[in-house]
Amino acid sequence: MKTRFAICVLSLCSSLTHVPRVVGLEPLLGRAVNASSPSSDILSLVNPFIGTTNGGNVFPGATIPHGLVKQAGYDANPTFNATGFSQLHDSGTGGGVPMSHFKIWPFASCNTTFESCQAAIESRKVLRKVLPDGSPDDFATPGYFSTNLSTDIRVELTSTRRTALHRYTFPSSSVDPRIVVDITNDGQMSSTNPVMTIDPNTGRVVGGAEFAASFGPGRYSVFTCVDFKGDGFDIKSPTEYGVWLSDFPVRFATNLQQVYFGFISELGALLTFPNNRGSSKNPSTTTILVRVGVSFISSDQACANAEAEIPDFDFDGTVAQSQAAWLDLLDRVKVDTTGVDQETVSLLYSSLYRTHISPADYTGENPRWNSTEPYFDSLYCNWDTFRTLYPLYSLHDPETFSRIILDGDPILSEFFVKFHEEAASLNVSATDLYNALLADAEDQPPNWDLQGRQANIWKMLGYVPSDIFEMSGTNTKQVSRTLEYAFGDFGISQVAQIMGLNNDTAKYQKRAGNFANVWNENITVPGGPDFVKGMMQAFANGTFNFTDPRHCSVNDPLMSTCFLNAANRDGFYESSPVVFVPHDTAKLIELQGGVNNFVPRLDFIFDDNYFDVTDEPSQQIPFMYHYANKPGLSTQRSRQVIAKNFNTSVNGLPGNDDSGAMASYAFFYLAGLYPVPATQQYLLSSPFFSEVSFFNPLFNSTTTIKANGFQGNPSTGTGGHVFVESVKVNGEPYKSNCFLDFDVFKNGSTVELTLSSNINNTCGEGAAALPPSLSTGGFGKLT
Ligand SMILES: *[C@@H]1O[C@H](CO)[C@@H](O)[C@H](O)[C@H]1NC(C)=O
Ligand SMILES: *[C@@H]1O[C@H](CO)[C@@H](O)[C@H](O)[C@H]1NC(C)=O
Ligand SMILES: *[C@@H]1O[C@H](CO)[C@@H](O)[C@H](O)[C@H]1NC(C)=O
Ligand SMILES: *[C@@H]1O[C@H](CO)[C@@H](O)[C@H](O)[C@H]1NC(C)=O
Ligand SMILES: *[C@@H]1O[C@H](CO)[C@@H](O)[C@H](O)[C@H]1NC(C)=O
Ligand SMILES: *[C@@H]1O[C@H](CO)[C@@H](O)[C@H](O)[C@H]1NC(C)=O
Ligand SMILES: *[C@@H]1O[C@H](CO)[C@@H](O)[C@H](O)[C@H]1NC(C)=O
Ligand SMILES: *[C@@H]1O[C@H](CO)[C@@H](O)[C@H](O)[C@H]1NC(C)=O
Ligand SMILES: *[C@@H]1O[C@H](CO)[C@@H](O)[C@H](O)[C@H]1NC(C)=O
Ligand SMILES: *[C@@H]1O[C@H](CO)[C@@H](O)[C@H](O)[C@H]1NC(C)=O
Ligand SMILES: *[C@@H]1O[C@H](CO)[C@@H](O)[C@H](O)[C@H]1NC(C)=O
Ligand SMILES: *[C@@H]1O[C@H](CO)[C@@H](O)[C@H](O)[C@H]1NC(C)=O
Repeated sequence: MKTRFAICVLSLCSSLTHVPRVVGLEPLLGRAVNASSPSSDILSLVNPFIGTTNGGNVFPGATIPHGLVKQAGYDANPTFNATGFSQLHDSGTGGGVPMSHFKIWPFASCNTTFESCQAAIESRKVLRKVLPDGSPDDFATPGYFSTNLSTDIRVELTSTRRTALHRYTFPSSSVDPRIVVDITNDGQMSSTNPVMTIDPNTGRVVGGAEFAASFGPGRYSVFTCVDFKGDGFDIKSPTEYGVWLSDFPVRFATNLQQVYFGFISELGALLTFPNNRGSSKNPSTTTILVRVGVSFISSDQACANAEAEIPDFDFDGTVAQSQAAWLDLLDRVKVDTTGVDQETVSLLYSSLYRTHISPADYTGENPRWNSTEPYFDSLYCNWDTFRTLYPLYSLHDPETFSRIILDGDPILSEFFVKFHEEAASLNVSATDLYNALLADAEDQPPNWDLQGRQANIWKMLGYVPSDIFEMSGTNTKQVSRTLEYAFGDFGISQVAQIMGLNNDTAKYQKRAGNFANVWNENITVPGGPDFVKGMMQAFANGTFNFTDPRHCSVNDPLMSTCFLNAANRDGFYESSPVVFVPHDTAKLIELQGGVNNFVPRLDFIFDDNYFDVTDEPSQQIPFMYHYANKPGLSTQRSRQVIAKNFNTSVNGLPGNDDSGAMASYAFFYLAGLYPVPATQQYLLSSPFFSEVSFFNPLFNSTTTIKANGFQGNPSTGTGGHVFVESVKVNGEPYKSNCFLDFDVFKNGSTVELTLSSNINNTCGEGAAALPPSLSTGGFGKLT
């Protein structure tokens, strides 16, 4: 087993989200392929368009699970122009538009002469056709996307891991169908050092350029190899070809270097193809397939990828392959839909679908790593995804999880806590994993503001002070980082404990409690109730620096955004000082003055709008009533969160999807669960279905949660016959009504919930009934 714990190489792995991004829309998308075949039942429940407008930034195009190729940026707003169908995307991220390379664009008729056909992005803009209900004429299902452009061209897309296949059907009026290959337009006009050649005999275009990462510093190169094939006729050679520079095509130029002097931000190839119109009396449409291989290594590799993955341009076969891969994944979760509306079922499967778009499988495509070891990138939002995305993979997709894990203490810990017995068979070395954790926890890299931690000061003081600037620039988020480091160290203590390293367990458990170092017991909310007292605050040199608890919330008089920018030096990131720690809620209850303060304080957080559904640090809050032995209140709050914020419309997401963080969050709430990462525990509520089951291929086990007495879901989330009264596992009463241990899922169990209408149901009797907390010995506290 080679070591493969390393940093993300393409600098696409930063953790920031939420700068609203302007989508220069290139739409893409299709009609159900074989929609009636039985295997597509689950696929037809997936609505890829959820969250595709108003900054949701979800990508609805064709991809295989974790595909490197994801075609076309998109916005559901029909007034957005289409300008190309690109090959690389992230999904649901904030920040600048990432990637979107190598757009392909069809012209049905582009002026009369080749030289006057303007191919730059501004000149390409056209609208999609619009359906009678005002929505664009787009269709998408897993593995397939289609759209009809207002130029009467039909666009269909599908893909394999590293290759896209486009099918353009030109109208019968199209005499000179032309296709643009765009080499340099990424989402941010960042290209340098472009190269490109055109083969006049086959039309093959190869090329690439260097581009800027969308978050963080760093640049990367990416290459493409584009081939063309007539569908049902032989196009032989393009009738015209050439390089275009901005709006000026240079006919018969085959090598960019012949015509490229000085920097030009937009360029590529333009090709004209023979048509397939037949007789002029009854001209028929012309369909051209475009195969686009992609590689981060070289254009030779891009061609090899394309030839290996889609050798024969078989569009339907490629769709079928992609759909089979999706079906294999989605079919691992099954629900009984009796008494549940279609919308809820679709929300569940659409959410599950979106949890397997990112991160992307770049195996074999890392230019700095000559290895066939699994390599994933576009690990955009570890800060967002550690909470729910990876604990969901633990339930149904451990193999993919084992191939992804590279960095992020809570993610490595989550994997090891769940799969330490299977790690070796999944090619994950426990020693390498633990060494990676220790390196992160103990060694401060020079660029700790980009990767790793500000470890020295954390080890010395037990918090991140707000007045020690070890680097200029981005020394921000000190309070949020204090909480994050504490949780990271908790994860390490969990791994150390499994490995029998008692000293390390004690050491990291102690450090996991350091979040309390930044608790200021005296802070109240201006104008708020007395029982809401005590907040996390910025701390330096023995003194607290006051941060208004309304900060970063909708109640903030200064309306601060709390996203990453150099001016944000007040310590908080994507959450207000009304924050929490997943691993030690008991301590938080104690700090807040006991459950009699804690429960009304949670209510205050919701009633006064401090719960921020768009940002992940708030995600656990609805379930925290569990720790006060009031799980019914969690059930109601989490159902209210779904009712208010999630649906299957194009606006059906709060904020953006954060690479599947929101999707996995919604999925868990619908399944009646909420995970505590890096632990064995899944907090338990009632599912939105009378039955939900998880198949885990690693264990070849299926666990079914049955909600006995299920009577449907209250539409607003309030009230209902949905409160868990008692829990049996394999016929035996379970130790708690408030959580399930991972063993229940690993072993393949039948979990029976008895439901009632009593919101006051509790976690049950006995010390083991409350979900564990660190300070009360819940995670095997050592002396
Ligand atoms: C779409 O393109 C047309 C023509 O360039 C332009 O007038 C229109 O403003 C564009 N729409 C949007 C939303 O940018
Ligand atoms: C067609 O070519 C003419 C002359 O080069 C140019 O002015 C015009 O903008 C072009 N129109 C399109 C749609 O490209
Ligand atoms: C596009 O047009 C074709 C007919 O040419 C039709 O079959 C299809 O349903 C339309 N819509 C989409 C999204 O493909
Ligand atoms: C559609 O169904 C036909 C007949 O069963 C099959 O040959 C074809 O491969 C299927 N196509 C897809 C994309 O599933
Ligand atoms: C990877 O290995 C190949 C073949 O051995 C070699 O040509 C190439 O230079 C290597 N690349 C790197 C980055 O080491
Ligand atoms: C582990 O590595 C071996 C050898 O490289 C490979 O055959 C096997 O598929 C890998 N197993 C998993 C689960 O990735
Ligand atoms: C205290 O906070 C203010 C902004 O809230 C900031 O300008 C100042 O630098 C902070 N002081 C210290 C010592 O961190
Ligand atoms: C663990 O800590 C104890 C007490 O500090 C020490 O005596 C012992 O050598 C340590 N064990 C290891 C394996 O480091
Ligand atoms: C909170 O107020 C009490 C009473 O005034 C004081 O003793 C204590 O030091 C204060 N704590 C902090 C952290 O300022
Ligand atoms: C810390 O506080 C002490 C006493 O108030 C002061 O003398 C010292 O300069 C401060 N140190 C820093 C690094 O601000
Ligand atoms: C998985 O379990 C099923 C029964 O649940 C059994 O039929 C099948 O043989 C098992 N597969 C493997 C690979 O063990
Ligand atoms: C639950 O408890 C609250 C507060 O004690 C009480 O007002 C309410 O009636 C109880 N509900 C039920 C169904 O027992």
